[in-house]
Amino acid sequence: MIRLKNQAMAIILATQDKKELEVLWLKYLGKKGELTSLIKEIPKLDQIKRKEIGMLANDVKRAIEETIDSQKLKAEDQRLKTKEFLDVTMPGKQPPLGHLHLISQAIEEITRIFERIGFKKVTYPEVEWDWYAFTGLNMPQNHPARDEWETFFVENLSHPKYGQTVLTPHTSSGQLREMERVGRPPIKMLNIAKCYRRQSDISHAPMFYQFEGLVIDQGINITNLKGTLDYFAKEYFGRERKTRIRPFHFQFTEPSFEVDVTCLVCAGKGCRACKQGWMELGGAGMVHSVVLKNGGIDPKKFTGFAFGWGVERVLMMKYGIPDIRLLFSGNLRFLNQF
Ligand code: PHE
Repeated sequence: MIRLKNQAMAIILATQDKKELEVLWLKYLGKKGELTSLIKEIPKLDQIKRKEIGMLANDVKRAIEETIDSQKLKAEDQRLKTKEFLDVTMPGKQPPLGHLHLISQAIEEITRIFERIGFKKVTYPEVEWDWYAFTGLNMPQNHPARDEWETFFVENLSHPKYGQTVLTPHTSSGQLREMERVGRPPIKMLNIAKCYRRQSDISHAPMFYQFEGLVIDQGINITNLKGTLDYFAKEYFGRERKTRIRPFHFQFTEPSFEVDVTCLVCAGKGCRACKQGWMELGGAGMVHSVVLKNGGIDPKKFTGFAFGWGVERVLMMKYGIPDIRLLFSGNLRFLNQF
């Protein structure tokens, strides 16, 4: 019996294979197992021997069982260890790094360009009174020019002096607010904000961004405006780009212009993407004397210029993005390119 025990122990301890351990269990403890057979012989022994051998057999049985169990546990342990093995020297998984949305990047870039020449970035209400968006900008009630801004009106009691409530249809509404805030020129404002108009196609979205510049001081003239536009075009689009101004009409500027920049594709020679080498940027002009007066500034002492362009528009012109809706799609395959 002792020999059986020693032999069994040696074999069991030599393996941690679960299947082999099952086989060994059967070999010793199964119905026809070696130990079982020996135990079956016990009743044939005489009384004193029977008791002694009986106790020994129990010990051997327990020892074999315990050893098999502990080998099984070791096997399980080993399995877990190999499976969850932690190699601290292994390079980690790189979490994907995000970045600012392209429109936010453009807003930051435009801000930096104008801050370098002394413009101060401001923000004004997105839900605004009619006065700041229209009437104060020399567009009286029912004036046909208002139709160009397909305005969203907010249901609200109208203000006795400032009129109805609107979602800002352009950043020009910041002009009067800035004049009121600063009081006395010089003024060098950069107002970048969300604008809302009832429009939606490949180059218009109902919510978009504009950036508006306003400069008011003594002796400000068109050459200051042209210089500022050229500076922006070169900084934002590239050294080789040029701007031109064309006569246009806005109620709040006189004279008014539309600003073009040389085409990205043909560099001014003329191609299918542009109008004879030029691409339209947006509006600008010299601040109308009525607007200066409405802002509490004496038009005999001070003059100023203003321009207001779409952030998405300049962005699309810089990179040749064909459809404004891509910018609002949240499509990562598009956005990750920038
Ligand atoms: N506010 C005008 C627009 O939305 C643009 C503009 C701004 C024109 C400033 C002249 C001066 O179209």
